[in-house]
Amino acid sequence: MKCLVTGSAGFIGSHLCERLVRDGHSVVGIDAFIPYYPRAIKEANLAGLRADRTYTHHTLDLRADTLDAALDGVDVVFHLAAMAGLVKSWTDFDLYQSCNLTATQRLLEAVKKTPSVRRLIYASTSSVYGRYSTGDETMPTRPISPYGVTKLAAENLCRSYDEFSVPVVVLRYFSVYGPRQRPDMGYYRFIGALLDGQPISVFGDGQQMRGNTYIDDCIDATVLALQAPLGETYNLGGGETASVWDILHKLERIIDRRAVVRREPSRPGDQRSTVADTSKLQRHLGWQPKTSLDEGLAQQVAWQRQLVQRQAA
Ligand SMILES: NC(=O)c1ccc[n+]([C@@H]2O[C@H](COP(=O)([O-])OP(=O)(O)OC[C@H]3O[C@@H](n4cnc5c(N)ncnc54)[C@H](O)[C@@H]3O)[C@@H](O)[C@H]2O)c1
Repeated sequence: MKCLVTGSAGFIGSHLCERLVRDGHSVVGIDAFIPYYPRAIKEANLAGLRADRTYTHHTLDLRADTLDAALDGVDVVFHLAAMAGLVKSWTDFDLYQSCNLTATQRLLEAVKKTPSVRRLIYASTSSVYGRYSTGDETMPTRPISPYGVTKLAAENLCRSYDEFSVPVVVLRYFSVYGPRQRPDMGYYRFIGALLDGQPISVFGDGQQMRGNTYIDDCIDATVLALQAPLGETYNLGGGETASVWDILHKLERIIDRRAVVRREPSRPGDQRSTVADTSKLQRHLGWQPKTSLDEGLAQQVAWQRQLVQRQAA
């Protein structure tokens, strides 16, 4: 099968491309290397793929560039390209609006004209639910950040292309962690600070509950979405629930160092709880998370240790 992955140089996109290549698919990646975090990190994510004959990279901006050549003969589109992360979405709204919504609209228009495409899998987020994201897919969608608003709008835009028989499946990811995690994300910051002996900022009371998803479990479900009934929406979360303090204590044990915590007020848009009920994904596709939090955190710590050692060398 020929698969197109947008956001292929990013954290999740690069893992997805590697898995699709391993499964024997021919993979086309699109990424514009948006400098939200350094291009060097994204190039490192892509390094293995660039050496593979079955992976073709297109450095294209979905907001402006012609997409027809990249879509030629494609059977399935995984649309992961976006401006992720809540915090900057308050101050850089145009970037979020354009990368999350305009980019999706342009991609959908191009897919509409490409009859070979049999499905588009859209990577959405728990942020579409808002402050309390604990439950199944019937929870009301009340985003509390511009990020969540643009991702929900893009979800709905994807669904509206049903009018043109564009076949869509939506996956709502609940914070994903593991090797290659984005440097702005919580676990990355915690681990980086602990390894470096730096203080760790904890926003709010630290009692926020999270059911984060290990990257391999996220990729398994994303690939299973190839068999999902069209038109469906699925929550994708990790299964184990922990507060910010629980995570910090686990990391202290793994790294064997006490954290120096700096308490800061909670930030606008911060979610109180994100715990996915994934029973629909289990029922329809037989998916269950396989990685415990302890295992997953240990994997991410090992990866970040290597990064630190490489930077020091
Ligand atoms: N990481 C998570 O925990 C998480 C949680 C929920 C949802 N998601 C969603 O999953 C997807 C991937 O997230 P990630 O954490 O891998 O982020 P990421 O920032 O690492 O990857 C996204 C990639 O998209 C690219 N991109 C952005 N705008 C583009 C454009 N206009 N044209 C071409 N490329 C563009 C970026 O350069 C980047 O490499 C996003 O859609 C995000 O909203 C992620």
